[in-house]
Amino acid sequence: MSPLPLHSARWLINPRYKPAGNSSNDDAWDEITSWPGYAATPLVALPELARDLDVGGIFYKDEGGRFGLGSFKALGGAYAVLRMLQRTITAQTGETPSATQLRAKSHPGITSSITVTTATDGNHGRSVAWGASQFGCRAVIYIPADCSPAREAALAALNAEVVRIDGGYDDAVARCAGDAAENRRTVISDTSWDGYRDIPREVTQGYRVMAEEALRQMPGGAPPPGGAPPSHIFIQGGVGALPAAICGHFSGLPAKPRVIVVEPEGAACLYASAKAGTASAAPDPVYSVMAGLNCGSASPIAWEILDRNAFAFMTIPDESAGDCMKLLADGSLGGRPIIAGESAVAGLAALISAAHGARTPLGLGPDSQILLFGTEGATDPEIYAKMVGSLPIKRE
Ligand SMILES: Cc1ncc(COP(=O)(O)O)c(C=O)c1O
Repeated sequence: MSPLPLHSARWLINPRYKPAGNSSNDDAWDEITSWPGYAATPLVALPELARDLDVGGIFYKDEGGRFGLGSFKALGGAYAVLRMLQRTITAQTGETPSATQLRAKSHPGITSSITVTTATDGNHGRSVAWGASQFGCRAVIYIPADCSPAREAALAALNAEVVRIDGGYDDAVARCAGDAAENRRTVISDTSWDGYRDIPREVTQGYRVMAEEALRQMPGGAPPPGGAPPSHIFIQGGVGALPAAICGHFSGLPAKPRVIVVEPEGAACLYASAKAGTASAAPDPVYSVMAGLNCGSASPIAWEILDRNAFAFMTIPDESAGDCMKLLADGSLGGRPIIAGESAVAGLAALISAAHGARTPLGLGPDSQILLFGTEGATDPEIYAKMVGSLPIKRE
């Protein structure tokens, strides 16, 4: 195995952590697992890495193949678009069409008059645009100034109107919401704000499908279906919707896994929130090469869950992303070669640091079973090639 890259990481144990909670998410599970093209993404064991870090097991959930959109975000935005359209149609007609009926254009007069909109660094917008194209409404997607051309093209390929703004992700969120109010568009955001909570909550419910799949795929549990829960989950966060979904889903288990929320050093709004004890912004300037994690402000509804349910918060430097992408690409961690995008590997980078520098406070040891979520594949192949040194070509 290649030598592991050791980068300095910061960690903070959450003083407000509560060991028990509850969990239920049947609606999103039943809905999304019935969609055409649905398949559980693979959970890959990394035994060489587990041996090297002296822990019991490490499992990597590879989201690169999710619905052909390249990331776990496919589960959230599209699901929220569907639920919003169903609610609107029910309010106007008393009928609630299924996803299948909407795909077959059951209510074209209503859906074609609706425009959904969001801000994105790429992945969430792709999910919203995909939902809009399937269920028959229009989409206007706002991207920050530095969003890559390939990610813009992926949005346009789904028939979305793309608006590139002069500013960062948080400016795009504000501009999208302002334009939506003027143009009667419906915001389908993964982040929340005062008075805007229900749709982001539905987005988060979609992500929990990934968490449930992972739980069923973990080895050693009682069939059918279901594996033994992990002892630790290292999960990367942007605005926090993803780690909130993971915390929400796993907190109902009798033995609640320790969830460690990981962010880039340069965009650590959740770490800042943990220090402040309230949803907060990252210190300026906000920047990370990990585009999906490059967010300056925590989502308040995500923070409400993380506040009690995240066990610890960590930050990692940007340099660790490329190192971890290479380790996964060459297959030396013990599983098969894995194509991981730059926002997919923060959890892995944090685990490597923590296994050396924070074993005792995080409770890591030879019995630990660790779950990582590789949240995207090569969603921009050119950026991937630059960071890894080779093209994202699948090798089994
Ligand atoms: C690949 C990837 N991983 C993780 C995240 C973080 O998710 P959230 O912003 O919901 O915390 C994102 C966000 O866009 C992402 O695209």
